[in-house]
Amino acid sequence: MVDIKDRASANILWDAWMNKYGKYYPEEALRKIEMYKFSSDYAHLCVMTEIYVMLGFIKDENNPFKIFRSFIEEQYGLDRDILEVACGHIPTLALDIDLNQQKRGSGSIEVCDDALILTTGWGDVVANKRRISEQSDVSKFSLIVSMLPCEATKTIIKVANKNEIEMVMYQCGCVHDGRDNPNDFRFTDFIAYRRELRELASDTLPKGFIYSEPKFPSSSPYHDIPIVMTKRKKD
Ligand SMILES: C[S@@+](CC[C@H](N)C(=O)[O-])C[C@H]1O[C@@H](n2cnc3c(N)ncnc32)[C@H](O)[C@@H]1O
Repeated sequence: MVDIKDRASANILWDAWMNKYGKYYPEEALRKIEMYKFSSDYAHLCVMTEIYVMLGFIKDENNPFKIFRSFIEEQYGLDRDILEVACGHIPTLALDIDLNQQKRGSGSIEVCDDALILTTGWGDVVANKRRISEQSDVSKFSLIVSMLPCEATKTIIKVANKNEIEMVMYQCGCVHDGRDNPNDFRFTDFIAYRRELRELASDTLPKGFIYSEPKFPSSSPYHDIPIVMTKRKKD
């Protein structure tokens, strides 16, 4: 999936990136970045995918952020005030949303994640280095989006439904709530966790909303994992 034709040029881009941003990453992330540099085995290492996309090492047709942005655009439109939760170290999805909003001259995008390496320098993206909680004020947004949000998954569902805001989430492939052990992944746990998410989303669903779990477009490297989404019913 990583598309590097010329290793020497790729190294130059890589070094420039690390010189500029390396100092802002926490030690654990830096260790992974060095360990997996240019490895194709990155599918579940979001920290790598973000850098590869920023450096152009992933073709547009395989870029999960672009594919998800295009899905969001098709389903909801981007001319909205959008909150992206759990954007990662670099707000890669938000940057793509911002680019498209700027082209159209409408909509806004704000992100929150305490893993953000910087809160400025991301175009018109408003970046908040903090976590979302069930008490967070999200009243100014009309859509909540998220990609592989790990431990934030249930909070996103609760916050979106409580505040009657449409939501679209590309679920991560792990199991959370104290059962997340990357060395002992059990498919049955994942299935049970998915059922819990579905029940939570359905049980708290605001009146006039519909809940669905469409499959992710098959060109995405994460296409086996479903989308969790809510929408206002059309009159
Ligand atoms: C698997 S990473 C995904 C990052 C990014 N969306 C991507 O696809 O590259 C999960 C992210 O969720 C963030 N996260 C977990 N709980 C959160 C919360 N309550 N609020 C905001 N971010 C949270 C973590 O800090 C981490 O950056």
